[in-house]
Amino acid sequence: MKLKNRIVEDLVFKSYLDEVMKKKKYLKMNRYIQHGNTSCLLHSIAVAYFSYRLCKTFKIKVHEKELIRGALLHDYFLYDWHAKYNPTKNVGLHGRIHPTIALYNASKDFNINEIEADIIKKHMFPLTFTPPKYRESIIVSLVDKACSIYEVFSKQAYLEMVIKIKANKKERRIISKRINLYN
Ligand SMILES: [Fe+2]
Ligand SMILES: [Fe+2]
Repeated sequence: MKLKNRIVEDLVFKSYLDEVMKKKKYLKMNRYIQHGNTSCLLHSIAVAYFSYRLCKTFKIKVHEKELIRGALLHDYFLYDWHAKYNPTKNVGLHGRIHPTIALYNASKDFNINEIEADIIKKHMFPLTFTPPKYRESIIVSLVDKACSIYEVFSKQAYLEMVIKIKANKKERRIISKRINLYN
């Protein structure tokens, strides 16, 4: 029964992921490294997946759709923040500025509601000063930090998750390009 629940939950996650991935521009995140060997795309999928799993495991009541979509878009800033001349270079710290840029991009390309906007805008708290307003935002912010630390120290992050979300062949190739999981 537990296994069956897990399979259904993974399919629910996959359906929200598929919806967001329909937008070609979203896949651009694969071009940019977030931490270690992990692309911004894989990082965002991982933060969404583990935020969702955390809520399922500990039976935390959340708006699932918003939690997943907000997490998938929390780093939708679309530039290489490691590059010498990234767009935030003369404006301020990437860590402080990218949530605003991600929210701007997400609002332009997706139908973003209040909870999703809060997740994106506040995920860097306490570096950005305003605290998260919703439970979903707090969860994503915490999972984001845990994932980031893991990515810094892992050479092939999220190997199991990539298989579990059962992405189709094309998506698998896109997600795993940077970690050489598949051909
Ligand atoms: Fe971020
Ligand atoms: Fe992040």
